[in-house]
Amino acid sequence: MTNKRGLYVVLISIHGLIRGNDLELGRDADTGGQTKYVVELAQALGKHTDIEKVELFTRQIFDERVADDYQQSEEDLNDHARIVRFPCGPKRYIRKESLWPHLDVYIDNAIKHFRRQRRVPDVIHAHYADAGYVGAHLANLMGVPLVFTGHSLGREKKRLLMANGMDEATVEKKYEISRRTEAEEVALDNALMVIASTHQEIKRQYSSYENYRIKQMQVIPPGVDLERFYPAKRRGRYPAIINQLKHFLAEPAKPCILAISRADERKNIQSLVHAYGKSERLQELANLVIIAGNRDDIRRMDRGARKVLQELLLNIDTYDLYGKACYPKHHEPDDIPEFYRLAARLQGVFINPALTEPFGLTLIEAAASGLPIVATNDGGPRDIIANCHNGTLVDPLSEEDITQGLLRVLDDPEQWKRYAGNGIKGVKKHYSWDSHVRKYLTTLKKKLRLRRVNRFFEAKRTQIPTAKKFLIADIDNTLLGHEGATERLVEVLKKHQGELGFAVATGRRIESARSVLKEWNIPEPEVFISSVGTEVHYKGAELQLDESWAKHISYQWEPEKIRDLITPLPGIVTQEKAAQRTYKISYFYDPKKSPTAGELRRILRQKNLHAKVIMSHGQFLDIIPIRASKGHAVRFLAMRWGIEPEDIIVAGDSGNDEEMLNGNTLGVVVGNYSKELNKLHGKHAVYFAEKTYADGILEGMDHYGFLEQLEQTP
Ligand code: GLC
Ligand code: MG
Repeated sequence: MTNKRGLYVVLISIHGLIRGNDLELGRDADTGGQTKYVVELAQALGKHTDIEKVELFTRQIFDERVADDYQQSEEDLNDHARIVRFPCGPKRYIRKESLWPHLDVYIDNAIKHFRRQRRVPDVIHAHYADAGYVGAHLANLMGVPLVFTGHSLGREKKRLLMANGMDEATVEKKYEISRRTEAEEVALDNALMVIASTHQEIKRQYSSYENYRIKQMQVIPPGVDLERFYPAKRRGRYPAIINQLKHFLAEPAKPCILAISRADERKNIQSLVHAYGKSERLQELANLVIIAGNRDDIRRMDRGARKVLQELLLNIDTYDLYGKACYPKHHEPDDIPEFYRLAARLQGVFINPALTEPFGLTLIEAAASGLPIVATNDGGPRDIIANCHNGTLVDPLSEEDITQGLLRVLDDPEQWKRYAGNGIKGVKKHYSWDSHVRKYLTTLKKKLRLRRVNRFFEAKRTQIPTAKKFLIADIDNTLLGHEGATERLVEVLKKHQGELGFAVATGRRIESARSVLKEWNIPEPEVFISSVGTEVHYKGAELQLDESWAKHISYQWEPEKIRDLITPLPGIVTQEKAAQRTYKISYFYDPKKSPTAGELRRILRQKNLHAKVIMSHGQFLDIIPIRASKGHAVRFLAMRWGIEPEDIIVAGDSGNDEEMLNGNTLGVVVGNYSKELNKLHGKHAVYFAEKTYADGILEGMDHYGFLEQLEQTP
């Protein structure tokens, strides 16, 4: 993190509709609080001096049903933050549950973006399961630390849906819950830090996951928009919104008990009305103002809302609260901050009596407006009151407790003043985006240091996306074999570090490849293609196995049957145990006694076994899956990272190098090659060097004008 340029942070939030202005909050299930959260986080990070740039990756959408804004591939948020949109599946707007099959394409689009700007981020922060999947893959491919915020988790969602009577199969079909929870597991497994908004969220949501680790969890509440929610003036005219109360209230300038929530049973407005209706003292001290969404015809609303509103009207009648209670039919989003400020100006109180409250954004908005709070004794409010000391907690199931809580605030002017002041101060300290970002960066830096990733952080991050050209070399008898030659090559690698990517492709297993390179002081490659192309690892904080490659080559692989068939053949002896890998069976063969490669292929085919037979140096015999080989692995990498074959030099000396020397990549056969490679003479883009070992590689680079091109390409 000593990077003088400051950090380059990538936030990923794929689904929904995200833009810099006029967020379409609540348009559908995918445009909830998360979209607001990520935009505000990006803006706030962009303002911090430690940050060079922030990019918020989301999905590019072309759809008549939504605004053109979502088509733009880039949109500035401020001087250091912008939104970047990539295609992901169909062009039209689709729900998040339908995005799963398209996420791999999204990963590749993101990689292309990093390649284009020749820079990888310092941190990737993924939001929600879909981005968690994408972020984990990107972070692994590039050796960059991952931060994850689940926002809400699949397991808890499933539990709630099933508790509400939905059967498992329907939950699965409708919400793709297993894919979602699996993605969450992957994200948790890979994350350096996981950010939750409350302590309870950790306990209730994250702790049931297999990859849950308390150490990676960090509570950093989101910020409230302090430009919208600011304290009321103590004196002077009342905010104009008071006019909306006038046709409900006999004495509109009396203190008020303000409640703002959706018309949802779980918000427990009814207990508040009962408490108020039964308490003469409360009615004497204050009016009751309930903002419960907008309504036209209650009879046409969905069942839950209808029930809540009908009951509200009936109770107001039962307790005869006319002139004391106010429950406006409509309001605009911009009225909300005004309601808080009016209530504060009138020395009232805000109450959230919900049955459960995981976070409680309204409480923070009230606090920012200088309005003391009374809230349900549950996760979110507990954190808020502990941080701000701006009110009191109550049992939402006890009307008496609600009444007492309200009285404690309303009946004590000194206390009221303290609460009001504490709330304003507390929100700035704990719930502003400034404080969020400050805590975010401090914790992140600490975590990076703790894991000593710091040391690797600059040096070990893979440069694949930034390199213009690549050298992929075999190790034994190509890179190594002549000390002076190796040294000469290493010098060239070091000189062009960053722009010339370096990878090895070897028959050795990863551990042995790594240690022999170290022994010869060769810089750590960006990629290891090991065990004859059956394994791919990336450099990073830790070496990272490419599991998608393993999965890809596992196709039609039946190692037991192959072993049973080949091991008894004449002239064939099994290599040591360490040489046997999941996708590689290795033997020594005696060319005088054993079947030829062609005969072996026939033997396998007759038994309906599909595998590749590779002979090297007249003594090694490898059998690997049909989709594997050094050559295939090279192509897989080129595709994965969007590298042109013409920008890759491949160098080798023996049979297991054959496939990678073929094709459009620039092949170099070093002078000391073994005779299996004779058949490559005259092939397109295969150069036979005069010089041997690593000097042969240098000669090949020269032949292709590789380094000159490197200097010329911008
Ligand atoms: C390496 C491996 C060996 C393999 C040979 C040829 O020497 O250790 O298992 O057979 O390369 O690919
Ligand atoms: Mg070799």
